[in-house]
Amino acid sequence: MTVPPVTAPVPIAAPPGGLDQEPHVDGARLLLGIAELAEIGALPTGGITRLAFTPEEDRARAYLMERARRADLRARVDEAGNVVIRRRDAEPGMPALLMGSHMDTVVKGGRLDGAYGVLAALEVLTVLAERDEPLGLEPVAIAFTNEEAGLFPYPFFGSRGVAGTLDPSLRYSSRDGTNLRPVLARAGGDLSRIRDAAWARGSIGAYLEAHIEQGPYLERAGIPVGVVTTITGRVTFDLRIQGRSSHAGTTPMDDRADALVAASHAVLAVEDLARSGECAVATVGQVESHPDQINVIPGNVRLAGEIRDLSGDRLTAAQAALARVADEIGGRYRVRVRVRTTGRVEPVPTTDVLRQVVRDAARELGLATMDLPSGAGHDAQVVAEIAPIGMVFVPSRAGISHAPEEDTDPEQLVTGADVLLRAALELCRRAREPGWSR
Ligand code: GLV
Ligand code: MN
Ligand code: MN
Repeated sequence: MTVPPVTAPVPIAAPPGGLDQEPHVDGARLLLGIAELAEIGALPTGGITRLAFTPEEDRARAYLMERARRADLRARVDEAGNVVIRRRDAEPGMPALLMGSHMDTVVKGGRLDGAYGVLAALEVLTVLAERDEPLGLEPVAIAFTNEEAGLFPYPFFGSRGVAGTLDPSLRYSSRDGTNLRPVLARAGGDLSRIRDAAWARGSIGAYLEAHIEQGPYLERAGIPVGVVTTITGRVTFDLRIQGRSSHAGTTPMDDRADALVAASHAVLAVEDLARSGECAVATVGQVESHPDQINVIPGNVRLAGEIRDLSGDRLTAAQAALARVADEIGGRYRVRVRVRTTGRVEPVPTTDVLRQVVRDAARELGLATMDLPSGAGHDAQVVAEIAPIGMVFVPSRAGISHAPEEDTDPEQLVTGADVLLRAALELCRRAREPGWSR
């Protein structure tokens, strides 16, 4: 595949009236923050592993809070483990313009997924806090925890806490059985008071999230700013296949119930769900084969994967197709196949008004934009349950993400943060007028 070169951002054109009266982010400060945060959880072989509720994420929280303090802002950890950053002179009771993303990574991930949105939000808050302008919304930056769910299988844990959809009666534990309660307490949260992390309806006037695109479309089009239209829905599933273990040398081929052979066909069948158009994408990302011995026919296999689509109905249809495929493979290979849905997040459109504000902000900066859906999940889609949402995308080099090679041109990171700033300022100004969000 030939990859088009990264396009330099369109130079900032000063419109009539004098652009420079409007504030800009401090690009060097933003890029330094990104570089420093990337050291936390950095692997000697490249990439970053900073899973939520591990000492690495604790260090990231401490780093972010220190950065906020140095900018004369107030930072605290809420009951769900999110870092919430406000200006010192915030007016009590004013609805927030919430901005942020997450600081946890996948295993061997990159330095920008989530981290960029958090540091861009902090940068925007820092610039707005230094100004003396009366605003109708209080800018607040947030770093959500456990968006990726690399260790504790509750994606969007932090944003669910903010949306008030975490169940305090559940016993939350990691895949290897670690209880969440003490590790959340170590991070500064409190599982027994998790409901207190929720923001009341109306207390968030708008939510804006800057993020790398994580796909190839902006780079291919040579466009520096993406305006997100819809965030994908996602169903995660577990597929357990039970066959029969026995001697790999003596068991005739016709007498076998090889769970891994059946699983291999299941992997291809999952891929085919997307290839045949049932859903946008479908992936099996985890395989556990037992007893995992070279001379034993695998008796049990667990596959874990996901299907994604921009339509909830299509997701439902693909789930049904997956169940049919599982039955068919069970019959064909004389194994028992069980599929279980382990999670479902609905596709969510962004809010019209916020899309337009992002487009206008980019246009004022002389930047071309492109409307596009997000194939990745984002905290924004959970915050959408209680507030209007908007998202700003910047290009990803070669479209790569969830991998050490994840990268974006530094200038594009800075211009994306400038778009966030300008959109944030516009919303905070508009909110001084009654009925602004319609
Ligand atoms: C979030 O990173 C996702 O998997 O979409
Ligand atoms: Mn991610
Ligand atoms: Mn992300």
